[in-house]
Amino acid sequence: MDFTSRLIHWYDLNGRSLPWRDTRDPYHIWISEIILQQTRMDQGLSYYLRFLEAFPDVFSLASAREEQVLRLWQGLGYYSRARNLHQAARKVVEQHGGELPAHSTELVRLKGIGPYTAAAIASMAYGEAIPAVDGNVYRVLSRIFAVDYSIDTSRGKKVFYDLATNLVPDDRPGAFNQALMDFGSMVCKPANPLCQSCIFHHECLARQRGSVKKYPLRNRKTPGRERYFNYFLFRARDHEGLPVFFVHHRTGNDIWKNMYEFPLLESDHLLPESALLNHTWWEELGVEPGGLVFSGSAVHLKHQLTHQTIYARFYQVEVNGGSLVILQKHFQLTRPDLFEELPKPRLVERFYRVVNFC
Ligand code: ADE
Repeated sequence: MDFTSRLIHWYDLNGRSLPWRDTRDPYHIWISEIILQQTRMDQGLSYYLRFLEAFPDVFSLASAREEQVLRLWQGLGYYSRARNLHQAARKVVEQHGGELPAHSTELVRLKGIGPYTAAAIASMAYGEAIPAVDGNVYRVLSRIFAVDYSIDTSRGKKVFYDLATNLVPDDRPGAFNQALMDFGSMVCKPANPLCQSCIFHHECLARQRGSVKKYPLRNRKTPGRERYFNYFLFRARDHEGLPVFFVHHRTGNDIWKNMYEFPLLESDHLLPESALLNHTWWEELGVEPGGLVFSGSAVHLKHQLTHQTIYARFYQVEVNGGSLVILQKHFQLTRPDLFEELPKPRLVERFYRVVNFC
């Protein structure tokens, strides 16, 4: 038996039972693929179920407000996925009568659908014989066939794509693609692959050569952009003595557009507290930092996005009187229960979970 038949046979016996595998509904498969990008399966699964409950078809998604979609996405991060999905749903309704296009070359014209996602949807929903090449595929194929091309070069990408194209079967392309996903995450894992119980134990060239760990090959990664976010949770009490604080609505052409965060001073390097207090930001706000009361020490969080590393510091400051009035000119005052409902970056949520508002 060849590689493809054996892999699919393994999948039929061992593949994970997942809700989008019981359907060929392209909308369901599309939603699952977008959610699973950069998301762990256990987390993605519950988001998938909730998302489909809220938006059971492309029409309901298209007619939703962006805020509704973002709220359901809260906690998943990479919010551009949700925005693109929403915009693509509108296009599918407006230009395709609510039917997702049936071919990968048309699917890639929708926002948020790249070659991998187009191939996944087209193969699983429509039976198009096209490989969905992602990190799992690079890892599995590079090991079994000892492919000595780097996956971050265009030559390497083409070699893997061509190899996968030769392997994908005409009769069950969706099963083949999902088999590779499962095999890559259950057996041929990045760290500690289960070589002893692998069905390709004898054939795997990397294992024969004792070089499983070497694959897949990569040229050095280019470091992403580093950013330094200094957040201020300005806390106060309303007239009933209940906790309130200031938030900022992000606009502009940057990460986290339309989401809510705390007032932010972004610096181009890590600023010690003394430099932070001398920053011109305070002058622009009209606040005298010397008079502020900081509570506790700053919370430091490092946050990794695909192409950016954010070094964040969260300061908590008690404000009242004059500074409270001035801050209201720049930021929006909110309550904890209202803030819960707003779409916010995962970084902000990570910090917010540890804040005590009593
Ligand atoms: N990751 C992305 N799509 C997937 C799928 N259909 N099955 C398992 N893992 C996946």
